[in-house]
Amino acid sequence: MPKRNVCHIVVVFLLAALGLVGQQRPRTSGSSDIPTQLPGHNAILMGTDWYPEQWPEPVWEKDVQLMEASHLHVVRIAEFAWSSMEPSEGHFDFGWLERSIRLLERHHIAVVLGTPTATPPAWLTQKYPETLRMEPNGQRVTHGNRAHGSVTSPKYLSMCRRIAEEMAKRFGHDPNVVGWQIDNEYGYALMSYDDGTKRQFQEWLKAKYKTLDALNQHWATAYWSQIYDDWNEIPIPVGAHNPALMLEWKRFVSHAWARYQQNQIDVIRGHADARQFTTGNFMGIGWDGVDHYEISAPLTLVAWDDYVGSGHLDPFANGMSHDGMRGMKGQNFWVMETQPGTVNWAGVNNFLNKGEVRAMAWHAIGHGADDVNYWQWRSALNGQEEMHGTLIGPDGEPVPLLEEVARTAGEFEQAQSAFRGTRVLSEIALLNDYDSRWALEFQKHTNQYNAFGVALGYYRALRKITQSLDVISPYASLSGYKLVVAPDLNVLPATLAQHLTEYIKNGGHLVLGPRSGMKDEYNALLPQRQPGFLGATLGGRVEQYYALEKNIPITGAWGSGEVSVWAEQLRAAAPDTEVLLRYGTSNGWLDGQPAVLTRSYGKGRITYIGAILDDKLMAEAADWLTRGTGIVAAFGPVPDGIEVTRRVGEDKQVFVLINFTQQKQKVALPRPMKSILDGAQVSSIELGVYGVAVLLDAK
Ligand code: GLA
Repeated sequence: MPKRNVCHIVVVFLLAALGLVGQQRPRTSGSSDIPTQLPGHNAILMGTDWYPEQWPEPVWEKDVQLMEASHLHVVRIAEFAWSSMEPSEGHFDFGWLERSIRLLERHHIAVVLGTPTATPPAWLTQKYPETLRMEPNGQRVTHGNRAHGSVTSPKYLSMCRRIAEEMAKRFGHDPNVVGWQIDNEYGYALMSYDDGTKRQFQEWLKAKYKTLDALNQHWATAYWSQIYDDWNEIPIPVGAHNPALMLEWKRFVSHAWARYQQNQIDVIRGHADARQFTTGNFMGIGWDGVDHYEISAPLTLVAWDDYVGSGHLDPFANGMSHDGMRGMKGQNFWVMETQPGTVNWAGVNNFLNKGEVRAMAWHAIGHGADDVNYWQWRSALNGQEEMHGTLIGPDGEPVPLLEEVARTAGEFEQAQSAFRGTRVLSEIALLNDYDSRWALEFQKHTNQYNAFGVALGYYRALRKITQSLDVISPYASLSGYKLVVAPDLNVLPATLAQHLTEYIKNGGHLVLGPRSGMKDEYNALLPQRQPGFLGATLGGRVEQYYALEKNIPITGAWGSGEVSVWAEQLRAAAPDTEVLLRYGTSNGWLDGQPAVLTRSYGKGRITYIGAILDDKLMAEAADWLTRGTGIVAAFGPVPDGIEVTRRVGEDKQVFVLINFTQQKQKVALPRPMKSILDGAQVSSIELGVYGVAVLLDAK
């Protein structure tokens, strides 16, 4: 173990003896800068997604009464209601929407308005067929589904702008409208493959590269006779293509959706009160259709749609998604949609167990959500989603789950003041980079490689120790983190290497996983071996990489175990670069070769892990990394399967503990705290299956 780590342990031990470790109360700057907590509303809210346009008005009153009685305080409406709001071109009918907003207001339910641009009406697509997306085979999509509009069609953009503007003119000062959701799930990033889109892509490339010589050089187009003499020769890639072209297309897709969104934000902001937020409903960290950092930048806040689908909630995988959404803007977020027990689109649409929906809602709050909405309140009597889970049945009466949701919503009311002004603060960041994810997806090299799974391996092991983790862009400020882990930062251009080196020099510990530092920003191989521009800092490099047919042994400072899927043969070049793990006997090439290198650099450290470690070794690695950096658990020891999340405010921190095991569990608290849901001061708690405790640790 390096000297520095021994010192750290001594210091941590001394602090522990003085009672200072594990009892830290990190500070934040208060609530005013938390845009997800709305002035005049509870700090944490529960709500639902409702479609008044699908029902005759006489049934609304009872629906809304039931919502209020269930403690629901937010409703998102209108995101698919274009044909009800503009029944024919240029003729707008917002009367029904106004009446539904007033009804909700009478029942103390705030409204988020969705712009309906995921569902252009039939009159629109019939009259302007160019607004429909063209599939790669040259066919326009037919009307009758959703996300059929083309984000690159100038006509479609102008129609979207007009409906968003008319809505904003009418509701931009509405006291009961708190915010706007743009479109719905970014149309799954579906694109149109028509000539107009191709021209826009070519123009976009031209603006970026300026000259064809530059493009030809960065793309290495001498390969397979791809040299371009004219911008209009450049195709939209369909299927495997030049990796540079494929990466640029992904970036163009993000740009096209960002522009599509901005087109609506501009007119909304032109008419709406500043207090009304803008947001979009993302689909979690697993979905990489667009670069979420680019799309979320102009929004007031991030929201996402959190569904389990088949099976049950994995608090680590889902927690990583929450943390990734929080990391988009480095602030709390909303869950605009979540699963009311079951969905209709998974392989097996099983129902979540009794208590699991409540646990899932609190899990969201613990990770930094300030609102949780159930999709949907009531299903239309026809349409593609008749079979989806709801909170009331087609008869307008509650389904059994509503009781659990109402109880949880009541608990949110009870706990809301404890959460006011709180956010998640972490000492470790996991880096999420869309360029790298796309590059790896294009050239997996082994169909066993799953970038999400690799990241989750690190997340799981580290989270068990720290109980709080951020998932952020590598380009974000890193200075507040003691440890930064990049599971597979494949695209690592010089500017990013510079940013990461600064972090290390200033005392941070950077951990790179396999496949890191291989490509430049054009998805071209770097002329240096991995980790490219960080090789000199590491004092070592990757000699060769191997896709594995089977697991191979590995042994060293973290113990012995196996690696799977991917292994890199490393070499320590600098005299002070240490080898922490070596491969055992395997394919001959790897036998006895270094698998993990570490080196102290400046005031910090860099570690390169060239393989995918098994769970036990990963746990040892996480232990070593956190001990070495003086990181402590947010709460303290808990039994396996108890999830801890922490939100920190001025002079307080709030812990949410959830039992995700199938047995009753006892947890001893590090010091007495107030159990918010039962009002008692406690020093230990018992949690039943899916049991939840909300603990206020205030000064
Ligand atoms: C998505 C959509 C909703 C609905 C749900 C069903 O999140 O945004 O409109 O289709 O899925 O699970």
